[in-house]
Amino acid sequence: MNSFIFRMPVNVYFDEHSVSKHLAEAMKGTGRNIMIAYGGGSVKKNGSLAEVRAILESEGKDITEFSGIMPNPTYRKVKEGTELAKKNHIDFILALGGGSVIDCCKVISAQAMTDEDLWKMEYEEGRMPSSFIPTGAIVTAFGTGAEMNSGAVITNEEKKMKSSLRGAPYSFAILDPLYTMTMPMRQVISGSFDSLSHCMESFMGLPEGDNLTDDINKACQRNIIRNIRATLLNPDDVKARSELMWAAAMAENGILILGKDNAFQAHMLEHQLGAYTDCNHGEGLAVIHPVLYRHMLSSSVEKFADLAVNVWDISPEGKSREELAEAFISALSAFIKEIGLPSSFREMGIAADTDYKTIADSTIIVEGSSRKLSHEELLTILKECI
Ligand code: NZQ
Ligand code: ZN
Repeated sequence: MNSFIFRMPVNVYFDEHSVSKHLAEAMKGTGRNIMIAYGGGSVKKNGSLAEVRAILESEGKDITEFSGIMPNPTYRKVKEGTELAKKNHIDFILALGGGSVIDCCKVISAQAMTDEDLWKMEYEEGRMPSSFIPTGAIVTAFGTGAEMNSGAVITNEEKKMKSSLRGAPYSFAILDPLYTMTMPMRQVISGSFDSLSHCMESFMGLPEGDNLTDDINKACQRNIIRNIRATLLNPDDVKARSELMWAAAMAENGILILGKDNAFQAHMLEHQLGAYTDCNHGEGLAVIHPVLYRHMLSSSVEKFADLAVNVWDISPEGKSREELAEAFISALSAFIKEIGLPSSFREMGIAADTDYKTIADSTIIVEGSSRKLSHEELLTILKECI
């Protein structure tokens, strides 16, 4: 393992009814002006906004609502939220939503504290923000684990980039599985595949060899696979959703990358696909992963064989390591079909005239996996995904 420093600043409240049990306590000591940020309206329909508002009002808070944060949040939406936060002298931002709302708020929290343009600051000058409006997250859709880290994935429409900006670390995250019961099943599955992808990409990071980080990782993968199946069998299974919710948080809280290099190549490619097509993140990953892994096969035999045996329960008897590695990719592809995720960009409804060359050329290439891919090979991969 590489050396590391680990810090986990987020207080997690995980329980059924954890909003009613813990929100007031979590907000103790925060200022009076609270911005509740949310998406396109699911929180109004399912009553979670009303519950949160009532708790804050009973604590004597003044509330500003910031609504309409879209899936794949844009930099323009960040700017809109920033203006509102500044105008209303917001003391605390409460994100009520999935990864998109949570990410958007992370960046608003930083942008509202500086007159400099954050994108320019981070991407052109290599400087990171250091002051933030304090934030809390109430998770309504699991999958990204965005509540557990300070990286926010934002689409800059002008620059045609979907990329990470450094934002505020959340001071708390409330994970109430009951808040996720109204998630559309399509989002449950694509979000959970995103969690599985975070595990697999973390696992692919160098160095190889026996280590605790990867052992925890494989347990997370098994848990996600098992509980996706359980949720499909019974959408009302709160226990299965609870497991998926915590697994998503575990996959992105930093533990699975401790001592490891960054190997998030499928994510880098999917993010740029998203910048050009606004596609669903987990679905894009489902199409890309098996194709990418076929390209990585010869350099990743040991890793893939390990996943075959220890995650997918494929018997090693009578098989070479290469055969096991291939069996892992086949099992992953079959699982993607089994749970109803797409296997091609066509199935996702991505337009036939999409400019895949520009997408491939603008994708960040990661250094830390078994083989560094070229932009040409990424284009080949994208074409094989069509
Ligand atoms: O907008 P509303 O009406 O709330 O509907 C949302 C949205 O349409 C709906 N939804 C959420 N909770 C619901 C619900 N519908 C009914 N009941 C509920 N309880 O779900 C839809 C999708 O929400 P969204 O937040 O976009 O999904 P997700 O959590 O998958 O977030 C995706 C974003 O996170 C980024 C992705 O790139 C994408 O932009 N990611 C962030 C990461 C991070 N910061 O660590 C890591 C990931 O790799 C990912 O890149
Ligand atoms: Zn992801």
